[in-house]
Amino acid sequence: MTESANPEQREYWNGPDSQEWVEDAERYDAMLAPYGETVLDAAALTSGERVLDVGCGNGATTLEAAARVGDGDGEAVGFDISAPMLEVARSRASERGIANARFTLGDAQTDALGGPYDVAISRFGIMFFSDPAAAFANVRSALLPGGRAALLCWRPMLENEWVIVPTAAAIEHVPPPEPPPPDAPGPFRFAEKGSLAAALTAAGFVDVTSDAVDGPMLLGGPGSFDDAYDFLKGNGITRRVLGDAPDEAKTRALSAMRDALLPFRTDAGVRMNGAMWLVRGRA
Ligand SMILES: C[S@@+](CC[C@H](N)C(=O)[O-])C[C@H]1O[C@@H](n2cnc3c(N)ncnc32)[C@H](O)[C@@H]1O
Repeated sequence: MTESANPEQREYWNGPDSQEWVEDAERYDAMLAPYGETVLDAAALTSGERVLDVGCGNGATTLEAAARVGDGDGEAVGFDISAPMLEVARSRASERGIANARFTLGDAQTDALGGPYDVAISRFGIMFFSDPAAAFANVRSALLPGGRAALLCWRPMLENEWVIVPTAAAIEHVPPPEPPPPDAPGPFRFAEKGSLAAALTAAGFVDVTSDAVDGPMLLGGPGSFDDAYDFLKGNGITRRVLGDAPDEAKTRALSAMRDALLPFRTDAGVRMNGAMWLVRGRA
């Protein structure tokens, strides 16, 4: 990997603050699995195609893409800035005997992505670039002419029950976190309607469409109510909301967050809505 254009993101995704993505890889994947289906179905993969998964993390969508393109010439390449997450992805591929998935460490904004690919996909791996136009131009140049992109990002926090319900409960007890500066990399970087589509268009993609998608998720995957609460407690968004409030305020905030989940309890787990943009385009 060359000098990263995103040093803070590289540090974050390789450091202790994102360790829960590695430790809780199975839970994240179980929780996000329906949204992986959304991206992969939108990509309409066919046998023999080559797929680039941008910000593939632990590789769940890369491995599923590899299965969908078959094991003739079809191949899926997961590209990510996080060495520990790619380690999970590689061991999953070898444990499952998936030979047509590969993983490459690098910054998708600046590093060569390999290719040419027929399709680029991403499930929440494209919101962390300091220069999205440069990053999407890099992705576009790795695609064959006419190659497809299918990308998923979050809509605003207020539309995402899984964030706003616990956050609203917490800030009765701790000061609300400072909103991130506009356009700062982060999970809600492209929340505003049309912003991801505009970034793709600026990078030279054509026929760009943007669809609002809503779908339920089980917080932390299937399990008991306490499993879901444990997942919530250890989550980066919760850490940010609790900030450096005094311990006693944090305890009250956590208890309020737990209570706020109760109406969403089901036999399968804590079911809450996720609100996303599905953005498609062609190189
Ligand atoms: C929210 S996680 C999503 C991971 C995965 N797509 C999934 O759905 O489980 C965001 C991912 O983007 C990766 N990422 C962030 N900035 C990146 C960059 N500049 N280049 C490549 N990957 C990046 C992170 O390392 C992380 O794996």
